[in-house]
Amino acid sequence: MADRYLTFAGTAPGRFLTRRLGLPQPAALKRWSPERPALEGDRLLRTAGKSDLELTDVAPALTTSSERPVAVLLDATGVRDVETLAEAHTALHPVVRSVAASGRIVVLGAPLDPADHHQAAVQQALEGFTRSLGKEIGRGRTVNLVRLTDARAAGSTLRFLLSPRSAYVSGQVIEVGAHGEYDDPGADPDRPLAGRTALVTGAARGIGEAVAETLARDGARVVVLDVPQAEQDARRVADRLGGTALALDITAPDAGGRIVAALPDGLDVLVHNAGITRDRRLVNMPAERWSSVLDVNLTSVLRTTDALLESGTLRRGGRIVATASIAGLAGNAGQTNYGASKAGVVGLVRGLAPRALAEHGVTVNAVAPGFIETKMTAAVPLFIREAGRRMNSLAQGGLPVDVAETTAWLAEPGSGAVNGQVVRVCGQSLLGA
Ligand code: NAI
Repeated sequence: MADRYLTFAGTAPGRFLTRRLGLPQPAALKRWSPERPALEGDRLLRTAGKSDLELTDVAPALTTSSERPVAVLLDATGVRDVETLAEAHTALHPVVRSVAASGRIVVLGAPLDPADHHQAAVQQALEGFTRSLGKEIGRGRTVNLVRLTDARAAGSTLRFLLSPRSAYVSGQVIEVGAHGEYDDPGADPDRPLAGRTALVTGAARGIGEAVAETLARDGARVVVLDVPQAEQDARRVADRLGGTALALDITAPDAGGRIVAALPDGLDVLVHNAGITRDRRLVNMPAERWSSVLDVNLTSVLRTTDALLESGTLRRGGRIVATASIAGLAGNAGQTNYGASKAGVVGLVRGLAPRALAEHGVTVNAVAPGFIETKMTAAVPLFIREAGRRMNSLAQGGLPVDVAETTAWLAEPGSGAVNGQVVRVCGQSLLGA
């Protein structure tokens, strides 16, 4: 079901009325398209505190003055005390109004220093600053914080956040490690996954289909996995993308072995997207509703991850991206089973990430979608759907492609220093914020 309110709010009478009545004012977001692959306009660099960061290689064409920037990068890595924190205010206060619609503000912070509680206090302060600015800035503009020590390791992350591909990602704090693979200067920046194989579970429709499409756009050869009942749809998706279909129920006890057997040449990107809901309040929930959701959303994710890592099918340099949900972070009435399964996915990511990188050279991250416009959310009763759509800083639902773009960034070879992160794709939802 199309978001008619969003369309109406974009017309002149709609703008007038929504403003007069104090209603939400969603702006049509600028997303990636082949014609407009980048946000066009100046990228302004501002600094707070004294910084040693070398940004020129990873965020090219930064300028120090602009009338109407499309992006502002605030380098606050050198903020160590309350006095230098004030420079974040001084740096952004004069320019924030002029940032273009659907523009970006990216704050760069440093990891919290365990030996210096003043530094830790003000670096943590940047998180509250970022999240608050995200809630007030409006006009489809996003604000995110990246904690980093080495700018080169954060190249893929900055490219993503400064592009139209991150349209529905706001209010996030992303930590980028100091180590990991950096960008290969010989690689094609438009097809970072060229020569790589990606498997997406539950890819016959919905978000999974969009993920398969986006990974294929980025050059990957995709394997479209879905249940045997959805085989026709899976084939249709695979044929369109020049990939292959794999009809398989991931809860089958031998699913891991069958995936390994289907990938004799190995795998580079594993996307755990398949998921189901069986909502009921706990008082009314039969054991079967509990176990079916846990089986698909968590047990099978654990089992296939183990099978693909232990067999070596997932190669060094590999990427695992699992799909959590804001219901797993904030909780949701009627979803004790689903909330448990998705929180389990977050635990899996945090628990496995350091070891998977050390032992297998593989990163493990999660995307946590908020309200995404799919068949599932179209079936939600009108008023609950409207609340879901509007209760976020961008005052609209996301699209499957927003989750797909975030997954594609985490899957990039250049994202090797992004590990153990849970990135919400929720327009800065008020739920669990
Ligand atoms: P969907 O129901 O449209 O698609 C899920 C796909 O997974 C289907 O093609 C289904 O056949 C497949 N699948 C289900 N069980 C399977 C199994 N045992 N083996 C293999 N494939 C199986 O769902 P949607 O909306 O595209 O969601 C995708 C993921 O995103 C899920 O993990 C969901 O929990 C998560 N998510 C979705 C949100 C939304 O707003 N739509 C919000 C938060 C998370």
